[in-house]
Amino acid sequence: MAIVRFKGYGEIEVPVGTSILEAAQELHAPEGYACGGVCACSTCHIYVTKGSNLLSDQEEEEEDMLDKAFDVRSNSRLGCQSKIERDGEIEVEITRESLEAYENEHPQERGKYVTWR
Ligand code: FES
Repeated sequence: MAIVRFKGYGEIEVPVGTSILEAAQELHAPEGYACGGVCACSTCHIYVTKGSNLLSDQEEEEEDMLDKAFDVRSNSRLGCQSKIERDGEIEVEITRESLEAYENEHPQERGKYVTWR
């Protein structure tokens, strides 16, 4: 089992094979997923701050999609493409881009996670 901590939203224990997006959904953490997790958007954009070596490698398709994301950093990943491959602790931060997407997908929660200007 692996522990995934979402900065500001708590943590959850999940089995190997789970994606970071699936872990977020189980925890009810506000990670966007406009395309439903098929690597066709960048709304599940996260920063992996610990345990990136426990995740599946980044494939070309994910890199291409991240090229279109906002505020991309060296630790950027797409949550739906980041599968947990080994037990351990993983820490992630949900990007503003992803929080905004989540709020757009869940209008009833609008204003809960992002300060809109
Ligand atoms: S949900 Fe669209 S790329 Fe991850």
